[in-house]
Amino acid sequence: MKSFVFQILASSLVIVASAGSFYQDFDVTWGGGRAKVLDDGRLLTLSLDKASGSGFQSKNQYLFGKVDMQIKLVPGNSAGTVAAYYLSSQGATHDEIDFEFLGNLSGEPYTLHTNVFTQGKGNREMQFKLWFDPAADFHNYSILWNPRHVLFMADGTPIRDFRNLESRGIAFPKSQPMRIYSSLWNADEWATRGGLVKTDWSKAPFTASYRGFKADACAVAGASGGGASACASMAANNRSSGWWNQEVDSTAQARMRWVQKNYMIYNYCSDLKRFPQGLPPECSIA
Ligand SMILES: *[C@@H]1O[C@H](CO)[C@@H](O)[C@H](O)[C@H]1NC(C)=O
Ligand SMILES: *[C@@H]1O[C@H](CO)[C@@H](O)[C@H](O)[C@H]1NC(C)=O
Repeated sequence: MKSFVFQILASSLVIVASAGSFYQDFDVTWGGGRAKVLDDGRLLTLSLDKASGSGFQSKNQYLFGKVDMQIKLVPGNSAGTVAAYYLSSQGATHDEIDFEFLGNLSGEPYTLHTNVFTQGKGNREMQFKLWFDPAADFHNYSILWNPRHVLFMADGTPIRDFRNLESRGIAFPKSQPMRIYSSLWNADEWATRGGLVKTDWSKAPFTASYRGFKADACAVAGASGGGASACASMAANNRSSGWWNQEVDSTAQARMRWVQKNYMIYNYCSDLKRFPQGLPPECSIA
């Protein structure tokens, strides 16, 4: 009986290695024609004008995996615009892993904003400048999500590691499958220099481009999926599953320290003013 139940669970989860077709992997969800799939499914563009932004989401839900997307952000004066690219589950106690790119005036740096929600609770913002111009060309943004890490990467360089510290009482995303979402929208009440710089609509439409999507992941087919144990047993038997056991080795840690030392512009773990009752517990665990 036990193994029968396990088979049902396992059969609703599949290991996928998707590469490359926006027709196959995503649905445009809003924007009334402002989101376009081009070049035989290899390219997707989102656009924003005064009337609306646009967005898309993955057809699959994923429970653990390694997901890469190449993104080229709005060039020129992108102040007031935000391109969000994130994984999220549903509901009030959802988990979420966020990249958000906050635009800026021409020649001023984008801000890459990151956050992690567990059980509906976020407030874990870290923000970065980048060591390249993210609007001049496509760059590769990746999320490695396995039972021990949520690792954020830009062009393969780790920038942030949200570790599994469940043994210390800190929730970790591990049981709610997530979809991938992206949208381009106007956030000029807060995005650029705290809302001081407004979107210049004479430059609209604003366009961000996506290509090179790759997911090596446990994908949940249908409404209900198997749990982490089903993903674990599949990963153990699948050659494209190096991500399942991937660790953040000393080289990766050194690169992440370099980024955090030179490019991090905000870290919730250093914001004593914001947390007068004490910093969140994960901040004090080395
Ligand atoms: C994106 O970065 C990841 C992480 O390093 C890497 O595995 C992948 O091959 C890269 N993809 C592209 C298209 O550069
Ligand atoms: C925009 O540029 C200004 C000036 O360099 C900087 O202070 C700010 O952090 C940048 N990013 C955003 C999103 O405002």
